[in-house]
Amino acid sequence: MSTPGKTGKQSNKMWGGRFAAELDHLMTEINASIDVDKRLFAQDITCSKAHAAMLVAQGILSEEDGYAIDKGLEAILHEIEDGEFTFSKELEDIHMNVEARLAELIGPAAGRLHTARSRNDQVATDFRLWTRQTIDELIQEIDDLMHVILDQAAEHTDTIMPGFTHLQSAQPVTFGHHLLAYMEMFARDRSRFVDCRNRLNECPLGAAALAGTSFPTDREMTAQTLGFERPTANSLDSVSDRDFILETLNNAAICAIHLSRLAEEIVIWSSAQFGFISLSDRYTTGSSIMPQKRNPDAAELIRAKAGRIFGAQTALQNVMKALPLTYSKDMQEDKDITFDAIDTLSLSLQVMTGMIRDMAAHKDAMYKAAGLGFATATDLADWLVRVLNIPFRQAHHITGSLVALAESKKCDLEDLTLEEMQQFHGDITPDVFEVLGLENSVRSRTSYGGTSPENVKKQVARWQEILK
Ligand code: ARG
Repeated sequence: MSTPGKTGKQSNKMWGGRFAAELDHLMTEINASIDVDKRLFAQDITCSKAHAAMLVAQGILSEEDGYAIDKGLEAILHEIEDGEFTFSKELEDIHMNVEARLAELIGPAAGRLHTARSRNDQVATDFRLWTRQTIDELIQEIDDLMHVILDQAAEHTDTIMPGFTHLQSAQPVTFGHHLLAYMEMFARDRSRFVDCRNRLNECPLGAAALAGTSFPTDREMTAQTLGFERPTANSLDSVSDRDFILETLNNAAICAIHLSRLAEEIVIWSSAQFGFISLSDRYTTGSSIMPQKRNPDAAELIRAKAGRIFGAQTALQNVMKALPLTYSKDMQEDKDITFDAIDTLSLSLQVMTGMIRDMAAHKDAMYKAAGLGFATATDLADWLVRVLNIPFRQAHHITGSLVALAESKKCDLEDLTLEEMQQFHGDITPDVFEVLGLENSVRSRTSYGGTSPENVKKQVARWQEILK
């Protein structure tokens, strides 16, 4: 617990012209963001170098001072990378920590770096740079995950498993087809991140505090140097916009939903009752008391961690809602939340990749389960429609009666005799038994996007082409 009243020497040296008293140390505690935003050091230095180069090019800063600033920033970058930099809470955030160190290294010229900019456009730019790079990394991680899912799908284009609705056996499908459903989801996640990256790629630097600046700056130049498509067009929006983070967190949340659904299926599939898959030793743990146990901890944790990401999304929406233009200090809360959520998503993606890569599928168990629960009842109804030209609703009714009969006899549909079937419709022929087999059922689902192994092979080939 902190004691109120004690003073901290926080940053009043930066605006000491007007402020005489020092900050209460509790104020330092709530105000300082350095513990969190020091993670932006590389972006902050890159941004400052681009700004200094522009000031020189525009004749706002002398070449000599520009050179000293650039060298000083370079030195600071190395100090931080080598762990030799002392971060100070008194200096509040990464921007002022770097600037204060620059002054120690090069003297008063350091004070010229902040010409024609503010921490408001600086932090907006740093965070956009960080988010852009982070999105590129997430996209790579999604690609890695898609590769291992596709490899498994390619192995199992005709491995039969039960398809579920309501977690009840519905119709047989192939394991490859089931896995390719996740390819669709992760591909959408990927494209959402790509969209977000395109939209965020505008440079707020030069908007200064909020109104722009009277110095003859060249915002095109800094935008270009920092790899942005263009400078942002409205200075007020530039410093108050955090849509790029909101979007990133929203995209992360949807991706986390997909991961959690796959994780949940892994938990179910790897249970002794299902036995559809085994996870490797590398991604499971044992029990300290029950020797037979192999727990899918990684999948459970991915399932749970989705909640953290939703929490971040909700938290930032609540920070941003109803904030008047332009910058408010509330917005400083954006980083902690975002870093945690993105680290969580990144770890989840990588762990899921390892888990899927190592996973072994048990075809026999899947096949056996696929035959339970009268999974080919729809095939029987379809046969009645196709061959006997019975309206589907009536066919559904006849099939229901046959299922009830099989249920009462505790046998499968294909174990009923032809005579028993004919009690419900006299025109049924022995051909009907062909559609009751699992292979036939799956093979017959040839509609575009359906589960027939032939379709699944084509889809695998399509994805292989896309991921090449
Ligand atoms: N640490 C601040 C943040 O992350 C930087 C911007 C501060 N701007 C200001 N006007 N106090 O939001």
